[in-house]
Amino acid sequence: MHIAGATVLLTGVTGGIGGSIAAEMSARGADLILTGRRREALEPLAERYGARTILADLADPDDVQRLAEEAAGTDILIANAALPSSGDVLDYTPAQIDRALAVNLRAPAMLARLLAPGMVADGRGHICFVGSLSGLAATRSSSMYTATKFGLRGFSLAFRQDLHGTGVGVSIVQPGFVRELGMFANTGSPTPGGVRTVAPERVVKGVIRAIERDVAEINVAPPELKFLTRIASQFPGFAERVQRLAGADQTVNAIVAAQESSR
Ligand SMILES: NC(=O)c1ccc[n+]([C@@H]2O[C@H](COP(=O)([O-])OP(=O)(O)OC[C@H]3O[C@@H](n4cnc5c(N)ncnc54)[C@H](OP(=O)(O)O)[C@@H]3O)[C@@H](O)[C@H]2O)c1
Repeated sequence: MHIAGATVLLTGVTGGIGGSIAAEMSARGADLILTGRRREALEPLAERYGARTILADLADPDDVQRLAEEAAGTDILIANAALPSSGDVLDYTPAQIDRALAVNLRAPAMLARLLAPGMVADGRGHICFVGSLSGLAATRSSSMYTATKFGLRGFSLAFRQDLHGTGVGVSIVQPGFVRELGMFANTGSPTPGGVRTVAPERVVKGVIRAIERDVAEINVAPPELKFLTRIASQFPGFAERVQRLAGADQTVNAIVAAQESSR
């Protein structure tokens, strides 16, 4: 799918990775529709990129429906917004569980469902989900995040098959820990077990490649982390024991504490 001249709806643009994706999409000549829940954060971005904006809270099903209606004609959906949703699920209220599911899984699936028919009618389009390596392998204190990212991966890979032959591609880009900006870097914590991070530009490149080449799945992480994640996805019981031996509890607890207010 060509990005230049395409209408691109991007969620989560007020966050770290979303901001980087918007800059690159704009540089490549996309016609941007930016969406977020905070007007004061959204408007300066709209001015910078000459973009249309649509205010929407992705935790609210009515807002998601309205967003899709107002963004009709979208050629490329980049569903990037998410909550960190970390911590022990026993500490979650039912409302917090609902919000994690709504923002991280329901909203991207629903936007894809509502925008894909227009793309299919045009015989061209692309849907790119931003997932996480947490969609492949589980780690402690991440039940809700892991559940939503596993779910997003499943949705993406299956929906891609449903749309095969229509001219509309579906991809998922799954980063590991991203440095400098975004929901992990904002915690100010080192990575659990000292695993290496990736630069945000690598995630953006992954998104561009996924869209331009219609790649099913792109994992953006240092090679050793990609390898360990694949092993962990095949042998979860073994991976769980290795993680316990690595003894990263203090670091994980610090990340959870830093993200608690965003549940
Ligand atoms: N950073 C990493 O290390 C990392 C690693 C793997 C995967 N990822 C994935 O990368 C994507 C982007 O993450 P990020 O690191 O850029 O996180 P971020 O800086 O926290 O940004 C998250 C974005 O989601 C938006 N959002 C949250 N709740 C929303 C709601 N109810 N309605 C509308 N928008 C909402 C936020 O809006 P507000 O600005 O209003 O809060 C923000 O724009 C996510 O899918 C994340 O899971 C990130």
